[in-house]
Amino acid sequence: MRTVLIVGNWKMNKTASEATLFIRELNARVLAQPARVELVVAPPFTALESVRIALGASSPIQLGAQDLFWEDHGAYTGEVSAPMLKDLGCRYVIVGHSERRTLFGEQGDRIQKKIRAALNHGLRPILCIGETLAERDNGTTDNVLTQQLHDGLSGLTTEALSAVTIAYEPVWAIGTGKSATVEQAVAAHRTIRRVLAATASPAIADSTRILYGGSVTPQNIESLLASDQVDGALIGGACLQVESFATIATVASATRSIGV
Ligand code: PGA
Repeated sequence: MRTVLIVGNWKMNKTASEATLFIRELNARVLAQPARVELVVAPPFTALESVRIALGASSPIQLGAQDLFWEDHGAYTGEVSAPMLKDLGCRYVIVGHSERRTLFGEQGDRIQKKIRAALNHGLRPILCIGETLAERDNGTTDNVLTQQLHDGLSGLTTEALSAVTIAYEPVWAIGTGKSATVEQAVAAHRTIRRVLAATASPAIADSTRILYGGSVTPQNIESLLASDQVDGALIGGACLQVESFATIATVASATRSIGV
């Protein structure tokens, strides 16, 4: 049984002080109305420590990072490594987000190195994949997803793969207010599972969590989670207000709490 996972990707938003206030409020909301799904917040690196402190030891909300570098330490100005994230209490790390691919030139080889570095240090990577509008329009969505899965995951052992989560995020749906339809999301998730079954194993395809991301809101989360193909959501804009993130967690808990 795949436990539903709701991840808030703050992107480049909130200072460390703003993060403390936000988390105090969010934590109180979640403790008052416990979520029956897994909840993760992924603040910027600069706010990880203040979020960790504000969450305290007993919060059900887990900590994630938005990126990492593949080396453990050394002369890599500006980079942050897996051991550094682990030491700050991170459990998850987002890898290969479309903004990193398009704005910072990340692709195959670098993404796979990051996945491996995360896994080597006990962090659970969330691999983001997704097609552009042009790729969808010219009918190559399945090829793009297949290629991105191969680039990110080829050669990983079954044990390593079992710690990986996939986030299907169509590029055209991110930050646009134009979510994929449930049918589009479900079709993409089925493609991803088919690729995992063929390249890893049917058991891995069955156990891997696949999140949907791209303009998820308190209004559309229920219909997305109504399909058992969708194991949660990676949320950008709607995770920046306590009210909308907490509402998404509540709706997700009500829709799909089995297995928690
Ligand atoms: P969005 O972002 O929810 O603002 O569309 C999603 C993401 O980039 O993960």
